[in-house]
Amino acid sequence: MIGIFDSGVGGLTALYEVRQALARADIVYLADRKNAPYGTKTKEELIRLVTEDIRRLAERGAEKILIACCTASAVWGELPTREREIAIPIIRPAARAAAESARRGVAVIATEATVRLGAFSREVARINPAIPVNEIAAQELVALVEGGCRDGRVSEKDLSVLCGVSDKIRNTGADTLILGCTHFSHLERTLASLTGMQTVSPAREGARVIIEEYKKLHPSRRSGTGRVHYL
Ligand code: DGL
Repeated sequence: MIGIFDSGVGGLTALYEVRQALARADIVYLADRKNAPYGTKTKEELIRLVTEDIRRLAERGAEKILIACCTASAVWGELPTREREIAIPIIRPAARAAAESARRGVAVIATEATVRLGAFSREVARINPAIPVNEIAAQELVALVEGGCRDGRVSEKDLSVLCGVSDKIRNTGADTLILGCTHFSHLERTLASLTGMQTVSPAREGARVIIEEYKKLHPSRRSGTGRVHYL
């Protein structure tokens, strides 16, 4: 069984990718609504919450767990060993995809905590220190998405917020945009068209990793009923 978690609806974008690729895999999805948003929490609070999320999913029988939340992934390196080993963070695969796509630079929009922790800048620099990275906090978009704002369903009021964020992104001069909070993947088409940039979705990149891991664990792919259990 696969475990996937986020503070809310952001991780559903990763869940979608996993289900497309692994129709028969059993999945347990945790939205930690009680403690949302994660993006305004301290590092210590995040370590505690993420450790608990992983334990809850492991107790439900998850063999591998996708941290479908960039804020939570930003503290992966500081989790207890057992929790770290079972969980897959999504910042690293996204940084790799962005480093491959970037010509002039990478812009990242993320939660306040993710920007404060600087995990995307660190990961891109590990791959190629010559690529300029600009991280922009856009915590206000999390509430927008939780309120139902989606590609194809953007109200005029929400559009003006998105235009404000897009101006800041364009001003960085980057050509590649990391949607550094999984909530923002629900607005990928809108943000791509407002910024004119190549977008990278950590939800999608992270999903690719867990799909490969699951295939290694279950080579026959016949196991499972394809059910999703929501916590
Ligand atoms: N979806 C989450 C992320 O990827 C966090 C949103 C929040 O709870 O602030 O960072």
